[in-house]
Amino acid sequence: MILRINGGKKLCGSVAVHGAKNSVLPIMAASILAEGESVIHNCPDLTDVDVSINILTYLGCKVKRSGDTVYIDSTAMNHSDIPDALMREMRSSVVFLGAILARTGEAVLTYPGGCELGPRPIDLHLMALRVLGADIEEIGGKIICKVRKLEGGRIELPIASVGATENAMLMASRCPGKTVIANAAREPEIEDLQNYLQKLGVGIHGAGTAIITVEGAGEKKIVEHTIIPDRIVASTYALAVASAGGRAEINNVEPRHFATVIDVLKEAGCDIETAGDRLKIACGKHLKAVRPIMTCPYPGFPTDAQPPLMAASLKFEGTTVFVENIFENRYRHVGELRRMGADIRTEGRVAVICGRKTLHGASVEATDLRGGAALAVAALGAEGESRISGLKHIDRGYEKLEKALSELGADAARTE
Ligand code: UD1
Repeated sequence: MILRINGGKKLCGSVAVHGAKNSVLPIMAASILAEGESVIHNCPDLTDVDVSINILTYLGCKVKRSGDTVYIDSTAMNHSDIPDALMREMRSSVVFLGAILARTGEAVLTYPGGCELGPRPIDLHLMALRVLGADIEEIGGKIICKVRKLEGGRIELPIASVGATENAMLMASRCPGKTVIANAAREPEIEDLQNYLQKLGVGIHGAGTAIITVEGAGEKKIVEHTIIPDRIVASTYALAVASAGGRAEINNVEPRHFATVIDVLKEAGCDIETAGDRLKIACGKHLKAVRPIMTCPYPGFPTDAQPPLMAASLKFEGTTVFVENIFENRYRHVGELRRMGADIRTEGRVAVICGRKTLHGASVEATDLRGGAALAVAALGAEGESRISGLKHIDRGYEKLEKALSELGADAARTE
């Protein structure tokens, strides 16, 4: 399958943003702690969600899906390992580790897969779990964990890792005593996980700041939760409008969560208005280059929005500089963008984009999730037809991207 986009036309339409991938995955892992039923609304239809459902089913949970609601009953969970084939399917499989350890006291996993963005170690995840009482050995590619004694403790993260913060929150949710996670990641998805855990009865506070405290507890009960809107998908749709020009209404958004992206679009010259959970964007032909973009942990500019912004900046008048501070190898989309006529130079973590060269449609391949989204954004602003392959990467994080782009007024379709 390929995504065919006939670009160079202004967009005009409205689209609703689905639930956040990076929220739903850890919350699905957390459902193990409920030892009962979790009802999760606004769950996006993504292949990473399918993988989480497969992991939960393997662990012995009962999972049902109806529209965008997923029902997970973890009462009968009877496994504490995850097969290698499932671990390799996505990076987020590793957040099951803290939840499984908290629930069963043991776990056997292998290293997770996910986008190739350079080295993605899990040393901080393991360090955090050790503080909370896990003995961890790595033998023959397997990570073998056993809990000596669950016990709260102080975890100092040298990097504000999202995944390590989530794993620590999950395991600490069942640790007697108090856990402090210092230099915790502050992403909105961390707050969403905290909200879910609070509904389970866990005494957890501070998400959204650098210090999270957890007093483990919780009871079996039915928990109902609605996933926050996906701020990276919302950003991508807005950037699509910037690339193609035109106007659009983007619904089911939390503008606060992607304020840095909105500010950059305003700086480039887009008119943006927000009211409640709606964003209206109008972009003329003459957008201008913006100040250097440095990706940083939240509330800084999100690394996940860097590739689609780079694609949109191809249409900005002037030179835009990017500095990618989170992942070493996050410019894999650059070579594909060049096939469309982009003038981009990279040196290590820095990319320099000379904008407003005429872009033309091309056959390009998505090699990772957000890089794939960048190709779609660029294709919308390029004259003629683009054919994007490698859709399996895009489908991990965007629900039916071709449908969303069509709702925005694009000529986009998925074809053989
Ligand atoms: C999460 C997001 C991903 C986003 C990233 C950064 C999910 C499912 N994925 O990924 O979309 O791009 O945050 O915002 O939520 N690190 C270590 N050791 C560790 C863990 C991380 O050195 O044990 C490093 C990483 O290599 C990276 C940095 O810390 O350089 C941040 O990574 P992290 O925040 O952990 O990203 P993920 O949780 O994998």
